Amino acid sequence: MSIHLTPAFAALRDHAVETGSLHLRDLMQDAKRCRSLTAEHDGVFLDASRQLVTAKTLDLLFALAEQAGLKSKIAAMVRGERINGTEKRSVLHTALRAPKERKLVVDGVDVIAEVHAVNARIKKFADAVRTGRWKGATGKKLVDVVAIGIGGSYLGPEFVAEALRTDGACAKAAAGRRLRFLANVDPIDVARALDGLDPATTLVVVISKTFTTAETMLNAKTVRAWLVKKLGAKAVARHMVAVSTNLDAVAKFGIDPANAFGFWDWVGGRYSVCSAVGLVPLALHYGWKPIERFLAGAHSIDEHFASAPLRKNLPVLLGLFGVWNSTFLGHATRALLPYCQALHRFAAHIQQVDMESNGKRVALDGSTLPFQAGEVDFGEPGTNGQHSFYQLLHQGRVVPADFIGFVESQRPIAVKGEKVVNHDELMANFFAQPDALAFGKTADECRAEGIADELIPHKMFPGDRPSNVLLLRRLDAYATGQLLALYEHRTAVQGFVWGNNSFDQMGVELGKVLGVKVRDQLAKSRAGATAISGFNPSTTALLRRYLEG
Ligand code: F6P
Repeated sequence: MSIHLTPAFAALRDHAVETGSLHLRDLMQDAKRCRSLTAEHDGVFLDASRQLVTAKTLDLLFALAEQAGLKSKIAAMVRGERINGTEKRSVLHTALRAPKERKLVVDGVDVIAEVHAVNARIKKFADAVRTGRWKGATGKKLVDVVAIGIGGSYLGPEFVAEALRTDGACAKAAAGRRLRFLANVDPIDVARALDGLDPATTLVVVISKTFTTAETMLNAKTVRAWLVKKLGAKAVARHMVAVSTNLDAVAKFGIDPANAFGFWDWVGGRYSVCSAVGLVPLALHYGWKPIERFLAGAHSIDEHFASAPLRKNLPVLLGLFGVWNSTFLGHATRALLPYCQALHRFAAHIQQVDMESNGKRVALDGSTLPFQAGEVDFGEPGTNGQHSFYQLLHQGRVVPADFIGFVESQRPIAVKGEKVVNHDELMANFFAQPDALAFGKTADECRAEGIADELIPHKMFPGDRPSNVLLLRRLDAYATGQLLALYEHRTAVQGFVWGNNSFDQMGVELGKVLGVKVRDQLAKSRAGATAISGFNPSTTALLRRYLEG
């Protein structure tokens, strides 16, 4: 049954109207309520007391989860059932971080054994490159890596690479090495990625699940030409490796499949950072040790997700609050606000994970969803965001936010004579902002401060703006894996409740097809054809203007 026809859905709709008369300022006075809205697993602490929910809301949300079959859907996913119905695929990114001793047989294949076999190859290869046993064509050590890929073949690896860059142990492991990402087909991105690199000391990793993605293929050819120009065609074998599920295409491109690292169709692109997609560039840069911790952190959340009671299950709680805020309270956007500069690419990655997964208008059976599913994700690290878009968060639209902070900094600094150490200064903001959003500032409070009457409307804050607070100990490889899995599963929870397929991405196809048509026209026009045909008047005029230079 479609979720909107369930009694819990109808009850939540009515209840959403009731909550209109509540204010977080009042709800937050109830210490018992605040305590009841916290949950913790393996060092990840969630305080959801600033969600606009009561005990009744929670009961109804868990009833909704039950009526959506959430528990059995989670179980089906981790068991390897083909829950990606439109593509008839399993969804098994959890198998990518399962320990070696585990066994999971899907269609007669032990997928965990396959994962560990590829990981062993990655580890060996990365070690050979890092120690100089694998050398470049001129005999020099390969100290720089350019990872070419886009979407899931880029965002996850970059988020993790950046999260670990300032971690002490990782920084030490990467000393003397550079890792660059090349994603955009914009030639400017090529220039930036290759700037200052020497082909003789550079290893190129072409990452593409399909090995057909236009941007990645053109960038791979461009960088291959850069290598060949200096080192000759034979150098490709020593300087280019690939990550893909399409090993035939890898061979066709000219990369020896012996130098390719495979993965499987049950790994969605945006869920692939724990496969060779992320592990190859990350292991080349940081070595294998942090990878093990990263995978272990993700696995810890996987286990929790699959086994913890729903009421204490972190991804389930985050997902249900997402459904409540977006579908029932009508908040279309969600801000991700890590108070940690090392997470500056986190929001970009979760944007793809979440918006490509749940940006859907139909249920799995093709019926139109009669409510808004999916959320618009955006974010920046605090405190930078505070000096940018927080104005809108405080006094403009209501944007539910996730605040993510750490007890310890990766790089503590104490300045002599300052009242607090630098990390405390950061965290003072972290603790203040959720309260400012929730409590706001009333007209009376403004008046009591002596604010002139005409300025009161400008200086008051309505408050009542929901947020989650996530507090972890320290951002290291383990915590990075935990955060990743937490947000991957949060997205799955929402899709499971809404009833859409969170694991296909048909919405990206139309633009690609039209792009091919424009590319053909540009090629013809550049070759001398004068006619521009097959486009609407606006696009025809725009193309003419572009071609005229
Ligand atoms: O265009 C969207 C998409 O298919 C994403 O889902 C995917 O992560 C990205 O393109 C890259 O795909 P590939 O890894 O096959 O190059």
